[in-house]
Amino acid sequence: MKALVLAGGRGTRLRPLTHTSAKQLVPVANKPVLYYGLEAIREAGITSVGIIVGDTADEVRRAVGDGARFGLEVTYIPQEEPLGLAHCVLIAREFLGDDPFVMYLGDNFLIGGIAGVVDAFRRSRHDAQILLTRVAEPRFYGVAELGPGGEILGLEEKPEHPRSDLAIVGVYIFSPAVHEAVRAITPSARGELEITDAVTWLIGNGFRVHSHFVDGYWRDTGRLQDMLECNRIVLELIEPDVRGTVDGLSEVTGRVVVERGAVVENSILRGPIVVGADTKIINSYVGPFTSIGAGCVVERAEIDYSMVLDGSSVRGVSRVSHSLIGRNVEVSRATGVPNTHELMVGDHSRIQVGA
Ligand code: G1P
Repeated sequence: MKALVLAGGRGTRLRPLTHTSAKQLVPVANKPVLYYGLEAIREAGITSVGIIVGDTADEVRRAVGDGARFGLEVTYIPQEEPLGLAHCVLIAREFLGDDPFVMYLGDNFLIGGIAGVVDAFRRSRHDAQILLTRVAEPRFYGVAELGPGGEILGLEEKPEHPRSDLAIVGVYIFSPAVHEAVRAITPSARGELEITDAVTWLIGNGFRVHSHFVDGYWRDTGRLQDMLECNRIVLELIEPDVRGTVDGLSEVTGRVVVERGAVVENSILRGPIVVGADTKIINSYVGPFTSIGAGCVVERAEIDYSMVLDGSSVRGVSRVSHSLIGRNVEVSRATGVPNTHELMVGDHSRIQVGA
C-alpha cells in the first residue's frame, strides 16, 4: 500500500496566509497540519509516499525533506496547475504503479489516525473506500447520499441543495481500478477533474465502493474557523511541559507547554496553550486554546482562542480573541491622539476592531 498526499492547490480561503505559505503548512498547536497527516500514514504502516506539490513546492520540500524523520520515503510529484484531485491521481500514475493507495488531502485533519480504516480496506475486497462524517454545512464539501442498507446512492461535489449532511472526508483508499476512472471523467463546472466524479464513475461501472463513518474529529482546515477549532482540539490533548523559564510572579494553570528558550514574566498562562521556543510573554494574559509560535513577543497584552505564527508580536492590546495572526506580524497599540486604528494589512486580510 502506498500513499498519495496532496499538498498543492492555492488555498484561497486562507488568504492572506496562503499568499506566502502553503495552506498545508499552517501550524496547528505549532506543528504544520501536513505533519499530522504524514504521521497518521506512517502509523498505518505505509512508508512509500508521493506528495503532489504546486506553487509552494519549495516550501513543502523544505518542511518534509526526504521524509526520513517521519519514517517515510517521499517522492515529490509536481502539478503544474491545480486541475483537481483526480488530476493528481492521473499525474501520479507512474509512482502509484498497480498498488492500492491512500489518498490524503494535506489540509485535512483527522484525530484518531487512519490505521483502522486502512486495515479494514486491506481485509476487504473493495475497489474504493470513502470516509464520511456529519457536518453542519454540507454544501462546502462532497456529499454522499446513502440507502437504507448504507449503500452509496450518489455523490455530489459541493451541491447547492445537499441531499444529506454526510460530507466526504479528504482521505480515500483506492485499488488500481481508480486509474481507469480518472481517465474516463471530464472536468467539472469549476474546471477541475473531481475525485468525487471518479468515485461516482466507479460505482456506475460496477466497482465495489464502500463508505465508512469517521467517529474521530475531522476538519478540512481550509477556513479560519476550522483552523481555530483544530487548534483547540489538539491543544486539549497536549501534555503539560514547561521547558522555558517561568518567573515566580507568573501563574500557570492547566495544560500548558512552554518550549525551550521561552521566557514568561509576570504573566498568567491559562491552558490549554502552547508557547513556542524563544518567545517572550511579559506582563500578559494568554488564555485557553491559544498557540503562540516561536520567536514571538506578547507584552502588556491579553490573548485567547487564537493562533500567532512565528516571529510575530502583540503589544499593549487587549483582548485579542478568535484570531489567526501570520508570521512576522506586528500588532501594537496606537498611542496619542486622535484615537485611531493604524493599519498596514496585506491583501485579502480581514480585520475586526473593537469599538
Ligand atoms: C475536496 C473534495 C471534497 C471533500 C473535501 C474534504 O474539496 O473535492 O469532496 O469533501 O476535499 O476536505 P476541496 O477542499 O478540494 O474544495
